[in-house]
Amino acid sequence: MNGSPGHSAIYPGSFDPLTCGHLDVIERAAQVFDRVLVAVVVNPQKREPLFSLPEREQMIVDATQHLSNVDVAHFRGLLADFVRARQANVIVKGLRVVADFESEMSTALMNRSLSGVDTVFLPSDPRWSFVSSTLVKEVFNLGADVAEYVPAAVLRLMQQKRSAPRAAER
Ligand code: PNS
Repeated sequence: MNGSPGHSAIYPGSFDPLTCGHLDVIERAAQVFDRVLVAVVVNPQKREPLFSLPEREQMIVDATQHLSNVDVAHFRGLLADFVRARQANVIVKGLRVVADFESEMSTALMNRSLSGVDTVFLPSDPRWSFVSSTLVKEVFNLGADVAEYVPAAVLRLMQQKRSAPRAAER
């Protein structure tokens, strides 16, 4: 995991939407590993996503254009199966707060048990330790300016959503 030839990492998530905290983890992982594959889960378990899968993939592609060793893909089903299929060396996760550590530890151990692949945790930059996709969506939906918390490419998409609300919201 020291960036020696052939070391590839998978950074999985819902990315609904991608935040500055996610982008920071991607940028730092891209310095450590030869390749980073950002893997968007097809059906986030939490709730109906704000952004479709193609939108979530495209926003990551747009926000990572400056990183030549970063790719974007999606997966459905078990992350462990996807990691094995892609022959990745590690899974990367960001940790913001202690609560993240508690849930991510068991997930990491289950993923290692299922796939043999370890998880490397990157501590969130303190600037982003309070920023989550869920909170960004909540404050955005209530009218807040979220320019500080999401990459510019994501902000543009969010503003388009606000100006074209879904039929049920009109
Ligand atoms: O950004 P999120 O929502 O915190 O990402 C969660 C994600 C996608 C990493 C997690 O839900 C996941 O790995 N889903 C795939 C299903 C799976 O493998 N579940 C068992 C985990 S041990």
